[in-house]
Amino acid sequence: MHAWLCEQTTGVDALQWKELPTPEPGPKQVRVAIRAASLNFPDILIVQGKYQFKPELPFVPGSEYSGVVEAVGSEVKGLKPGARVLVLGSVGGFGTQAVVEASRVQPMPSALSFEDGAAFAFTYGTSYHALIDRAALRAGETVFVLGAAGGVGTAALQIAKAAGARVIAGVSSQAKCELCLRLGADAAINYASENLREALKQHTDGKGPDVIYDPVGGDLAEPSFRSIGWRGRYLVVGFAQGSIPALPLNLMLLKGASVVGIFWGDFVRREPAASAQQMEALAQWYAKGSIKPVVDQVLPMARLREAYARMASRQVMGKLVMVNA
Ligand SMILES: NC(=O)c1ccc[n+]([C@@H]2O[C@H](COP(=O)([O-])OP(=O)(O)OC[C@H]3O[C@@H](n4cnc5c(N)ncnc54)[C@H](OP(=O)(O)O)[C@@H]3O)[C@@H](O)[C@H]2O)c1
Repeated sequence: MHAWLCEQTTGVDALQWKELPTPEPGPKQVRVAIRAASLNFPDILIVQGKYQFKPELPFVPGSEYSGVVEAVGSEVKGLKPGARVLVLGSVGGFGTQAVVEASRVQPMPSALSFEDGAAFAFTYGTSYHALIDRAALRAGETVFVLGAAGGVGTAALQIAKAAGARVIAGVSSQAKCELCLRLGADAAINYASENLREALKQHTDGKGPDVIYDPVGGDLAEPSFRSIGWRGRYLVVGFAQGSIPALPLNLMLLKGASVVGIFWGDFVRREPAASAQQMEALAQWYAKGSIKPVVDQVLPMARLREAYARMASRQVMGKLVMVNA
């Protein structure tokens, strides 16, 4: 097998495409022939040693992938060679094969292609848990999505629309505004060139959004929060801008608003039955055509470095997917 090996956590330049022995699965593991893997923001952090989970070296990055089961361990039930599967591991996806705990492997809904399957669970799972479960979003409410053209952002936009909400997309370029409007956003704000507070006032008749979905953080958090509506819910999803903002507590008091932390990975581990229900609801929306991963580019696995560079320079619109021939 071949894989991108990380032997030191100094960033993507240290990754090497190497031939490795093909591993046999342990009793509770399966080996998957990887067909497609998508890039998620934590894949950037993990090769720099900046992610909350720090795997032992050397490791193969790649947290989300799809493929076909090749071999199963003696204690594995319910998965057979030949099964089409989705895998949410923390590592292992950027290669041709991976051995993974069977508990991290799910059958792939038959409607999903390998590319869509590899670009689905992480972003849609996070955004469904955030908007529908934690924020209890209702039809007719207004949601402001920051980083709306990114991975979790495009998923949040589609989920909010599928739930009957009005969506204002916040992004950093005109091209990203156009993408979000094509995806169904009711309005788009270029926060790199417009006054964010003024624009939010204008698009909500002065009331402010009911829900704010924030995977960006940094200096966008405070003006966004100051614009939130009465009984608003501010979803803390991530800090793609790099810095972790601090908000004065009087702002929550003045708006009767809540700040809601989102940690989808721990939700899946702590509440597997609820997570499975949410994935089922998402599969139904996918089958109806209400949601569909926005794939920015499909690249051969050997061109992984280009994908990393594109995400780190904020160019990705939707998801980047790497495939094995
Ligand atoms: N809490 C959870 O459970 C959970 C789950 C999944 C992901 N996340 C987090 O959510 C965030 C987004 O993940 P993603 O996979 O959607 O990433 P992504 O596709 O790269 O999207 C991130 C967006 O953030 C904006 N951004 C602002 N400053 C940036 C910078 N310096 N570098 C890169 N992007 C920047 C960009 O939008 P503009 O250019 O339009 O500003 C970009 O589209 C990450 O922090 C990730 O760790 C959290």
